[in-house]
Amino acid sequence: MTTDASTSPAARPSSLPVKPRIFSGIQPTGRPHLGNDLGAIRNYVALAERYEAIYCVVDYHALTHVHDPEMLRHQTLEMAAALIALGLDPKRCTLFVQSDRPEVTELCWLFNTVTPVGWLQRTPTYKEKRQNQPEDVNHGLLTYPVLQAADIVIYKASLVPVGRDQAAHLELSREIVRAFNARYGVTFPEPQPVYTDAPVVLGTDGVKKMSKSIGNTIEVLAEPDVIRKQVMSMVTDTQRILRSDPGRPQVCNVCRLHRHFGDDYEQIWEGERTARTGCVDTKKLLVERIIAHYAGARETYKELMADPARLRAILDEGAERIRPIAEATMAEVRERMGLR
Ligand code: TRP
Repeated sequence: MTTDASTSPAARPSSLPVKPRIFSGIQPTGRPHLGNDLGAIRNYVALAERYEAIYCVVDYHALTHVHDPEMLRHQTLEMAAALIALGLDPKRCTLFVQSDRPEVTELCWLFNTVTPVGWLQRTPTYKEKRQNQPEDVNHGLLTYPVLQAADIVIYKASLVPVGRDQAAHLELSREIVRAFNARYGVTFPEPQPVYTDAPVVLGTDGVKKMSKSIGNTIEVLAEPDVIRKQVMSMVTDTQRILRSDPGRPQVCNVCRLHRHFGDDYEQIWEGERTARTGCVDTKKLLVERIIAHYAGARETYKELMADPARLRAILDEGAERIRPIAEATMAEVRERMGLR
C-alpha cells in the first residue's frame, strides 16, 4: 500500500488526535496533600482511562514565584513521584516535566505577538499575584496565561481538567487561540475546561481551603505519625462543646472528609448527631482510614524518591513520547507565521 498524503491520518490538516486528548498542568509544590489528591489528582487518574491524557509538572510556571534552584528541582520530582504513587500510570498516560519539552517557550513567544497586553493585565490572577508578591512583579507573572495556553495547544489538546480557580486562564487560552486562528488560519482547537466537581477541601483549621502556604494540610504521603498529628489537630464542629452535645456532621470538616474514606459515612454522621460518638472517636477513625488508604501510595512514593535515576527515566520517556507532536505543531506554526 502506498502512503497517500491525502488519506493518511497524519496528513489531516491540524493533525487532531482520534481519541480526545486532554492536557493538564500541576504546580511543583512538592509532596501533595489531601486537598490536591481529592481535588485534582484522583480526577486525573480517572480521566486517563477515558482519554489520551498528558499531564505536566509546570516548573517553568513555578519560576514566577520559586527562586531557589534546588528547591524547585526537588519539589518537581516530589510532585512527579507523588502523581505516579497516587495512581497515574506512566504507561497509560504521558507524564512529563514542562521544561523537558522546551518547544513550548517558543510557542509562548509567538502567542505573545497575538495577545493584547490589556487581556493579561485584566486577568484576576495577575492582579492577585501582584498583590501577593509586590516586590517581585516579574514579566513572567503577566505572561503566565500565555505559556499556559501554549502548554495546552502545542499538543492540540481539546479538553483541560482544572479547578474553577483556573476559569479565567482557560478563557484566555481560548481567546489567544481564536486570535491566532483568525490571523494565521485555523491551526488549533479551542481548549475546553472540564471542571472537576470535586469538593473544595478545607484545611485542618476547618475554615480555609487546604493549602501548603497556609500550613493547614494533611500530608497523605507522610509518615503515619505526621498524619495522625495533623488529623488530630483538626477543628471540628465548633458549637459542640460537651461530649454529650449532639454534633452537626454537615458542618464538621472531619465528618465531611469521612465521605471519601468508606461508604459507611452515614452511620458515622448518625453517631455524631446522636452524640453516641465524640469528635475524638471520629478523628481517630479518620486517621486510621487515611493511613490505610494511602499505605500503598506511601510505599511507592518512597521507592521512587529513593531511586531518582528511575524516576528521571520515566519522566524522560514521557517527554520523548510527545516530542513528535510538539515538533510537528511548531513546524506548522512557523510555516503559517512566515518564519523559516
Ligand atoms: N495554572 C495552573 C495552576 O496554577 C497550572 C497550569 C500550567 C496548567 N499550565 C497548564 C493547568 C495547562 C492546565 C493546563 O494550577
